Parts: sequence; C-alpha cells; structure tokens
Amino acid sequence: MKRVGLVGWRGMVGSVLMQRMREENDFALIEPVFFTTSNAGGKAPNFGKEAPALKDAKDIEELKSMDIVITCQGGDYTNEVYPKLRAAGWNGHWIDAASSLRMEPQAVIILDPVNMNVIKDALAKGGRDWVGGNCTVSLMLMALGGLFQRDLVEWATSMTYQAASGAGAQNMRELISQMGELNRSVKELLDDPASAILDIDREVAGTMRDDAFPASNFGVPLAGSLIPWIDKDLGNGQSKEEWKGGVETNKILGRGEGFGSPAVPIDGLCVRIGAMRCHSQALTLKLKKDIPIDEIEAMLASANDWVKVVPNQRDITMRDLTPTAVTGTLTVPVGRLRKLAMGGEYLSAFTVGDQLLWGAAEPLRRMLRVLLE
Ligand code: HSE
Repeated sequence: MKRVGLVGWRGMVGSVLMQRMREENDFALIEPVFFTTSNAGGKAPNFGKEAPALKDAKDIEELKSMDIVITCQGGDYTNEVYPKLRAAGWNGHWIDAASSLRMEPQAVIILDPVNMNVIKDALAKGGRDWVGGNCTVSLMLMALGGLFQRDLVEWATSMTYQAASGAGAQNMRELISQMGELNRSVKELLDDPASAILDIDREVAGTMRDDAFPASNFGVPLAGSLIPWIDKDLGNGQSKEEWKGGVETNKILGRGEGFGSPAVPIDGLCVRIGAMRCHSQALTLKLKKDIPIDEIEAMLASANDWVKVVPNQRDITMRDLTPTAVTGTLTVPVGRLRKLAMGGEYLSAFTVGDQLLWGAAEPLRRMLRVLLE
C-alpha cells in the first residue's frame, strides 16, 4: 500500500479534501501519514483509518519516506519544502493545491475529466509533479471542455463573479460580518414599513464608507458592493488572476509554449462578488465555425459526468444556474447558451461551480486515484 503524506489537511481546502476522500473511501487504498506545521507528535485524525502520530511537515527525512505527498498547505510551504525534498533525492509524486509550481515545465496542471491525455503522457515520461489549477480556470473547463477538447474555440473572454472563499476562510467570515453590519445599521428602519427606502440606502452607504466597517481582509467593502480586481497587479493593466485564465487553460489543454499546438487566446476581467464558495463566469466564445446550438449543447453535456446544460429559459436558469443551487455539489451547470448578435460563431455562456470542490480539492484526490491505478 502506498504511503501518502497529507499536509495542510486542517485548512479550508484540506478539510474539503479530507471530506471528499472519506466519502469516496480513498483512505481504504492508502497508508495515510498526517503532517503538521505546529503539532508534531500530536494525535492524527481518523478519517476511517488509523494513522501514526503527526509528523513535522518540514522534516525532509520523514517526507522522503512517502510514496506520494498531497499538500494544501499553501504556496509558501511549497516554495520552502519542495526544492529541499527534490534536492534530497526524493522521487515520489507531489500533488499540490498551491499555484507555486503550476507553470514549471515539469509540472502538469491536473483536471483529469478534461486532460487525462496530458496526465497520462506525462506519467509515461516519468512525471512526478501534479498541481491543481486555478479554480476559475478549472471550473470553466469543466463546463466548456466539450468545445475546447474538440478544438472549436478560436478565442474566449470571460467575465468572472468570484466568491469570497477564493480569497480564504477569513474573507468568508468577513463577508458575513459585513452583511450583518449592514443589516444592523438599518434594522429599525427596515422593521418600520413606513420608512423611506432612500433613508435606508443613505444609512447603508454611510455604514459601508465608515472606517469602522469590518474590511481588514478584503481591504474594502464587498457586501453590497464588488471588487473588480483579484490577486496581484502585473503592472500591464492585467491582474494575475486574469493572466492565469490564459496561461493555465492552455497548459491544461496541452497547448501553447512547449506543446505542439498554438495557444487559444483567453482573457477577461476577474471580479470578486459577495457569494460564499461558488465562482460564476460569463463567457463570450468565438467558435471556429457556425455550429447549431443544439449540437453545441450536446457536445457540452457529453464532455464529462458533472457538467449539466441548463436550457436557456428564465425559470430554470434562475433556479439552477446560481451559487445557491450549486454550492456544496460537484455539478457544474452551464447555460445562457445562445448565439450573439455579432454572428453565428459568437456564443455566450454562463457557468457556476463550487470553488472548493472542482476548483480545488477534487482534482487532487482524483490524481491520487490515477497514481494508485
Ligand atoms: N485565485 C482564486 C480566487 C482562488 O481568488 O478566487 C484560487 O484559485
């Protein structure tokens, strides 16, 4: 049985990973060893299987005795530990949720329902580094893989509506605190049916602009507002999140630099909104030819077991194509599919997905399964 080291299992993504591994009975197939950055020697958790006492996550000798390491500990940990582990001669498989290694030439961005061919090719060539993709990219490809895999997309632009969870657990808490604070500030006016809406609105705006408004994690109010910038400023007008959309999509598909086929141009605007853990995105795709919409729907629906085409009708869209409907599930609905006024090659689409499941934890545990085959 493979010895599998688990690092960062207590954090938000790690907890979702543990939950999914337990649900899918993954622990029955491995010898789990839990690592910690703060409590070495402590009692290991039991996710249906006994494990030895917690090991020090920075102990290279301990890590070296693993066949596989899965880390959700974050980029700083990867940057510190991964090079030392490889330099010490470790040849095991490293499965990582952080972005640090994603664009390294030897690393594969894993999303097996979309790029099992890329994963299998790399495995055959001795690949050892497997990195989960940016959540928005992975969710977009789970939804629209049917078109990208057939090489039908000339270019795509995506406008995102990204949830608080992508910024971290503290940000999710802050979003709810902000919502509570807004409600608190106008509670009496709300309770009075005769109060004037513009009085309520003025009070809410004042609360949001007050220095005391809880915004230390986001830096600005999110509840009742939005933030049209995610991740670093690359200095060329593009945010790092927007840059990832292009480079990671192509790397997942095995296109662009280092691969045989040209990159598909993908760019857009990434925006944080007040959803909890589901990222949504509105896409415009320029297809290479004018394909009837029913054929497009069939291609999308058959691409994997989790994508669900939502008919482009009002009631079902409002019910099924929302973060509320999707949160906590592996279903990735895609809808609002129609040809745009620009011509038959121009397709609109809207998709929603759970940022912590397909966007983070699920591809990692599925890669573990691929390695155990
Ligand atoms: N960068 C993403 C976000 C989450 O901020 O929503 C991680 O992929």
